[in-house]
Amino acid sequence: MNITNESNTSLTVSAPSIMEFKSIIKDITTNSNVLALKERSQHSNNSRFYHCLCVSYYTYLVCKKLNLDYISATRGAMLHDFYFYDWRDKKVEGQKRFHAFRHPRIALNNANDLFELNDVEKDIILKHMWPLTFSLPSYRESYIVTLVDKYCATHEVLKSLRKKFKNL
Ligand SMILES: [Fe+2]
Ligand SMILES: [Fe+2]
Repeated sequence: MNITNESNTSLTVSAPSIMEFKSIIKDITTNSNVLALKERSQHSNNSRFYHCLCVSYYTYLVCKKLNLDYISATRGAMLHDFYFYDWRDKKVEGQKRFHAFRHPRIALNNANDLFELNDVEKDIILKHMWPLTFSLPSYRESYIVTLVDKYCATHEVLKSLRKKFKNL
């Protein structure tokens, strides 16, 4: 698709592709700390890495379609759950209760330690639990990630429930 910006320069927006998606997050998905998320479970049997990858991919498709900053959105989405504790651990007091409110800040601190983040990426990570956490996302890309995250999480939970009830 060809679009024209205000200075009349013709810009070419390529169609979404797996190759482009992979190249946008290559430095993230090859980082050993991020790869360690493969050992952490998120919803049911899915790894946290897989969950982040799914959220990142759908975010890429939607943001590219809507002509938004799909690069920042895709990268922010890949890092939105970059934390390592088990939120179901009953031995830790308040772990489950406060998880929704505390893990975005932990993920942002972890991501900040390893990657150069822009304001859109930071906002995506910090606000992805909205509306549960009250502060409003500052960018359209952040709203997209809040929706895609919930879509992927619901899909992952339903998939595991279907598996559980299969033998009834
Ligand atoms: Fe999260
Ligand atoms: Fe998530």
